Amino acid sequence: MKKVIAGSSSPTLARNLAQALNAPLAETTVKRFPDGEVYVRLHESMEEAVIVQNTYPDHNIIELLFLQDAARRAGADTVRVVVPYYGYGRQDRVFEEGEAVSAAKLARLIQQDADSLVTVDPHKDYITEFFGIPAHACSAVQEIASFFAGRVDMVLAPDRGAMDRAQAAARVIGCPHDYLEKKRLSGKEVEMHPKELEVEGGAVLIIDDIISTGGTMAAAIRSLKAQGASAVYAACSHGLFAGDAVERITAAGCDDIVATDTVESAYSTISAAPAVAACL
Ligand code: R5P
Repeated sequence: MKKVIAGSSSPTLARNLAQALNAPLAETTVKRFPDGEVYVRLHESMEEAVIVQNTYPDHNIIELLFLQDAARRAGADTVRVVVPYYGYGRQDRVFEEGEAVSAAKLARLIQQDADSLVTVDPHKDYITEFFGIPAHACSAVQEIASFFAGRVDMVLAPDRGAMDRAQAAARVIGCPHDYLEKKRLSGKEVEMHPKELEVEGGAVLIIDDIISTGGTMAAAIRSLKAQGASAVYAACSHGLFAGDAVERITAAGCDDIVATDTVESAYSTISAAPAVAACL
């Protein structure tokens, strides 16, 4: 029998996924010892396990690896790993000599006890190629776009690299799309070069894969509001909201912040479960 195992990082998504797959959630204990080490236990046996757990922040990685081990010991011949947010996905190559390729190393660890992997909107789709098992990237863009359908006049990507995502969302909504010129000044600070965009009086959706420090979104919103946009909405698949990200985005004039349930927060308005279920 197929059972869904909810790691502690995305319990809502795991619940929604179990429902979409018409599979039960396995009874699981995950707790921490006083010294911080993690303890996992599955209370049921199963033939097929679908483990839902992020590789972010760091402590969730070790929990995922132990859940995989426990699933095999519980009898699972097939272990499907769902990593809703693939943390470390942005370090997908050597940018400067001497660096680790974190995304590839994680893949090698996960595949040891997995038969397949599904992740949602990784920073770059090609990280699935780091896996020696079938690995797929699905997208929550359809779900995000449907949420905004009828509410926006244009979709913008915060940089050129995110154009495909904006284009896909605009296709669902039935509106134009474009991108902003982004220059990263530091880990937290971003500069947007205003482009001549027809945003005056219009409602704009900015869609990104990740909101981390909020620097990208804040700069984009400020630039669009300065050009006369009547409303600017910030949407992402993975809302990490590090530090004062929400305050920065709000102070820039954002009219609504929306994320999926890959990383749970107060802004997880949309579930990525339908996209994951379709991929599984
Ligand atoms: C970068 O290329 C990503 O797509 C996001 O734009 C970035 O991770 C967002 O980070 P932050 O919120 O810190 O600007």
